Amino acid sequence: MERVSEAAPLLEVSDLTLRFGGVTALNGVSFTVGRGELFAVIGPNGAGKTSIFNCVNGVYRPQRGTITLAGTRLNGRSPAAVAGMGVARTFQNLGLFEQLTLVENLMLGRHHLMRTGLLAGMFWWGRAKREEVEHRAACEEIVELLELEPYRHTPAGLLPYGVAKRAELGRALAMAPTLLLLDEPVAGMNVEETEDMARYLVEVRRELDLAMILVEHDTRLVMDLADRVLALDFGTPIATGTPGEIQRDPKVVEAYLGGAA
Ligand SMILES: Nc1ncnc2c1ncn2[C@@H]1O[C@H](COP(=O)(O)OP(=O)(O)OP(=O)(O)O)[C@@H](O)[C@H]1O
Ligand SMILES: [Mg+2]
Repeated sequence: MERVSEAAPLLEVSDLTLRFGGVTALNGVSFTVGRGELFAVIGPNGAGKTSIFNCVNGVYRPQRGTITLAGTRLNGRSPAAVAGMGVARTFQNLGLFEQLTLVENLMLGRHHLMRTGLLAGMFWWGRAKREEVEHRAACEEIVELLELEPYRHTPAGLLPYGVAKRAELGRALAMAPTLLLLDEPVAGMNVEETEDMARYLVEVRRELDLAMILVEHDTRLVMDLADRVLALDFGTPIATGTPGEIQRDPKVVEAYLGGAA
């Protein structure tokens, strides 16, 4: 663990293979994500993008390959353990608790950072109180960063769609991650909501010290925001490079346009 070189990548995914019966969801996928890097994964429906996230955060067990975070192996660990190591995630279909308010959802995101359990909290009330004040302050910073002030006490289920997607980002950020996995943060959004989200993602990058993996069908957003891009097709990596390189890659063009170009 100690003495991990600063230059070493934060996340290293090597030769990942994942099968469901006869379906090969991922086939020898390798990539690295540097500290502070925004790395994007693109590919048609069913290409295996969400499966990569599910392998990284311990929901799926790949048949082959290794995943390491700052030199520590991730695969084989439970989703809770991976979250505890600093990997947070937003979901393609919102992961908020609809009956809880926005701030309560953010506080839940911080749960794994809390040292005082419920029982200890009853006996060490002072410490629990101090801890809660700390966590509320951290959530308030996120509320401000994402300009969610008007919705603090709104039940998540009543938030307008674009705001709910932003709240979902906030919930993940509340975990204070070093690596954030974003699964289609602008899916179903109109042009204006998409531009807003792009602005918030830029803001998050500027203000917080974290790396992100962005999965998104909106290629304009990907090309605008990403440092590097991995293109997948039927679970197989077909190209990795800068947005410019990816857009010019004949295999990527073929996968997207079915050879029509
Ligand atoms: N739990 C599962 N059981 C069986 N097959 C699965 C499971 N999860 C994913 N798959 C299959 O693995 C392949 C990749 O799915 P995945 O959800 O990773 O694709 P995706 O790139 O995220 O697609 P989309 O853009 O539609 O979200 C698909 O063929 C899918 O049907
Ligand atoms: Mg998906």
